Amino acid sequence: MAKDRIRFICGNCGHDSPKWQGVCPSCNEWNTFSEQKVVKPTGEKNRISITDIEKLSVTALSDVTISDSDRFSTNLTEFDRVLNGGFVRGSFSLLGGDPGIGKSTLMLQVAKNCPDKRILYVAGEESASQIKQRASRIGLVGENLFISSHTEVRNVIDKARNTTYDLLIVDSIQTVFSDNLTSLPGSVQQIRECSALLQQLAKKENVTTLMIGHVTKEGDIAGPRILEHMVDTVLHFEGDKNHLYRLLRTVKNRFGPAQEVGVFEMKEGGLEEVTNPSALFMSGSDLDVSGNSVTCIMEGTRPILVEVQALVTPSSYSTPQRTASGFDQRRLSLLIAVLEKRAGYSFAGNDVYLNIAGGLKVTDPAADFAVVSALASSLRDKPLERNTVYVGEVGLGGEVRKVSFFEQRVREAVKMGVRKIVAPKLKAAENWSIEYKSTAFISELRL
Ligand code: TYD
Ligand code: MG
Repeated sequence: MAKDRIRFICGNCGHDSPKWQGVCPSCNEWNTFSEQKVVKPTGEKNRISITDIEKLSVTALSDVTISDSDRFSTNLTEFDRVLNGGFVRGSFSLLGGDPGIGKSTLMLQVAKNCPDKRILYVAGEESASQIKQRASRIGLVGENLFISSHTEVRNVIDKARNTTYDLLIVDSIQTVFSDNLTSLPGSVQQIRECSALLQQLAKKENVTTLMIGHVTKEGDIAGPRILEHMVDTVLHFEGDKNHLYRLLRTVKNRFGPAQEVGVFEMKEGGLEEVTNPSALFMSGSDLDVSGNSVTCIMEGTRPILVEVQALVTPSSYSTPQRTASGFDQRRLSLLIAVLEKRAGYSFAGNDVYLNIAGGLKVTDPAADFAVVSALASSLRDKPLERNTVYVGEVGLGGEVRKVSFFEQRVREAVKMGVRKIVAPKLKAAENWSIEYKSTAFISELRL
């Protein structure tokens, strides 16, 4: 007879403990343990003998074949870019993002662009009529898009395997549940069990599956960490609530390079692809005021021109403010310290505000030199040369260092009609059809 047992499971990482604990010994989160009833089968079943183990065949790697038709395009250039050419058949992917960022809209957009592909959309968050409303907003008829509101995992698997679908979309994994478990949908156990079953469906029956996942306040995908290990591809859809652009980023990809980025813009009629993101982030750069500079950052393998704005004003507080938006605050303090020590600028008694225009978050160290130039320009109240791009990492000694992908950055600047580039000394710089000024130290700014 089955015997019930009480276990305590961490809601964050799924760690299993026989007693309640305040701090999870596995993930160090506080107050995450909850009580779960576990049904333990009793009797002989628990003991395995070697004769029970199935005989399995193995295949030589050289005999395994792959073909190009194993991938299908979404007909969305930006989506294909992040997937490295489209969905791999039988792949198991995860798309995470903040609520309301446009994950469901993006999936409908895929359906719209692939009218010949049969798609099963498991909708746990919205009713079919809500989806219909949104679909009409983006102009999707959906003859090959099938909506199912049943989110019991066996039901989902049954539907997906009995008819051939090119793509199964599960919106979202947090709403799918298994009747075998007593815990609520969205709990660690439910996510773990349901995603394991969906993974088997993808791998054994070759059903291309994409799950949408919620994210936590910190921006990680909600649920057990194992979810990200299980899937072939992890995509993040991100953007700023106050801006319309959205970035689709590959965090993990077993079929291509990770850190690839696709850019979209949320419009009245759905998501629109942005094939020239530099134009999006450079819309106000012709302003001739001090503190404005332009740099070229890399988002994955993609160069994007962005505008950096600094404002240095006399402080009215006893402790001067250092505020950065779209740029790391500590990096800003570091660059101010380098400017003070190595180039003789003094920011004492001044508030410093730094902003990356368009709401983009910049982490590429190549933006350092543009930040330093913008800060010096605002402090001295002298505008920088117009139509000029600053590229380089700034070291603690005040030196401007070389950055990777320099040629791609130059090509992007040329494409966007930039006249001049200021960067550390490079070989073969003369071949580029752009004026080039070599800089080794930030003190050469002379502002
Ligand atoms: P949604 O796809 O529901 O987000 P998620 O699934 O990530 O929670 O996105 C909804 C948001 O997108 C909502 O705030 C309205 C906006 N939106 C548009 O601006 N234009 C459109 O055409 C559509 C369909 C949505
Ligand atoms: Mg949604």
